Amino acid sequence: MRVQKIFTKDLFRFTPTIVEPKQDLLKGEVYIGRTLFQRKLFFIDFSKTINPHICVFGMSGSGKSTFVKTLIHRYRKVRRVNAIIIDFAGEYVDFADMNLEIGKKDFLNILDLGGLTPRQRIEQIMRGFEIAFGISMKDAPLQYSLLMYFLEQAYIKKGFDLDKYEDKETPTLLDVYELIEEEIKKEEKKSKESGRLISLISLKAKLRAYASSASGVFARKSTIRLDEITKIGVLNFDLSKLPDEHSRILVGYTLLEYLLDRMRREGISENIKLFIVLDEAHKLAGESSPIIPLVKEGRKYGFAIIISTQDIIDVDKRIIANAGNVFVFKMQAPEQIKYLKDAISMSDFYERRLMMLKLGECIVKQNLRNEVSNIFVIKVDAEILKKVRIKLPYEKLKKIKTIAKMI
Ligand SMILES: Nc1ncnc2c1ncn2[C@@H]1O[C@H](COP(=O)(O)OP(=O)(O)OP(=O)(O)O)[C@@H](O)[C@H]1O
Ligand SMILES: [Mg+2]
Repeated sequence: MRVQKIFTKDLFRFTPTIVEPKQDLLKGEVYIGRTLFQRKLFFIDFSKTINPHICVFGMSGSGKSTFVKTLIHRYRKVRRVNAIIIDFAGEYVDFADMNLEIGKKDFLNILDLGGLTPRQRIEQIMRGFEIAFGISMKDAPLQYSLLMYFLEQAYIKKGFDLDKYEDKETPTLLDVYELIEEEIKKEEKKSKESGRLISLISLKAKLRAYASSASGVFARKSTIRLDEITKIGVLNFDLSKLPDEHSRILVGYTLLEYLLDRMRREGISENIKLFIVLDEAHKLAGESSPIIPLVKEGRKYGFAIIISTQDIIDVDKRIIANAGNVFVFKMQAPEQIKYLKDAISMSDFYERRLMMLKLGECIVKQNLRNEVSNIFVIKVDAEILKKVRIKLPYEKLKKIKTIAKMI
């Protein structure tokens, strides 16, 4: 009797409480891989989850980007869905139908209006600067108000009415930079130590690397037409060529603001129309980012957001908790695991499992519409990922990349 008791206890300890999902929950539209224990096929189906958004986490080299590519590639075979990738590390260059090398061959003027009035656009740019450079009303009020003032002046100098959208040549950050330089000269004549002068110098220093000469990445006119970007199959914004993380955040932020506005203008859609992928762009998934409204309203408008990162801590917990689908590849950093555990209420068993996952294996947590949430382990089957390039007619390419007169 005693022996039997010990034996049962040990068995319980060593046999993990693996619950494989019910067979009908594995059925769906797009094949992803097999469950780890019973080798059942897992197909993803966004109509079963509360929304089509996907969070993909895991340490470097664990299989995140491969999974995202596999998913988009196979989904596009089933349905006509386009994808826009905001690629911080340059990992999708060979995968995309069209690749934009931002900061090298292609440029985006962050002062372009995209249908907004200068005042509305300035409001967005200020939020971008807050995330990218920490210039906020709270932490740097003088720099904040000076930057806002010079942005306004740059539009006014180009003949804009701040409250009217006009389709004409916009200023660039170079114009803003030059206005700041002029102001510094004036201020230096008045006083050598004023708080205003110190803030102006600090602002100038922040912009110098990007806008101090015509070759700066933010000193140029756009070579991309934003109104065409959702029409390409898989369009990659390769931001890895930009000089640093600040500039990547600023461009990524500008794109997200544009996509949010675009989504609302396009109207409601039953089906998924567009995937927006943020790869290693975790800084764009924080509290004051346009990603929050994109995630909240995306389902209604047919936009599915995919956030893939090794740095989960920058991703707002609300995004993780409310995502329809979370895929977690191998993780080891305790603080990251704790953060995830809190966000998706993961059991100790899966926490231990997480650290032992092999390449391409991941924990799947789905927030289902009509059933209790589902959690299980799969191995992503990336073997049949084959690149099928969609050739775009030259005319269409020309429309998206306006021939850069500047370069
Ligand atoms: N499911 C899989 N099956 C087989 N090989 C895989 C699988 N997933 C990833 N790999 C291989 O592992 C390598 C790393 O994968 P991947 O680039 O997707 O990782 P990652 O998590 O995006 O890494 P990083 O954080 O560095 O961007 C790639 O060479 C890829 O081919
Ligand atoms: Mg990756």
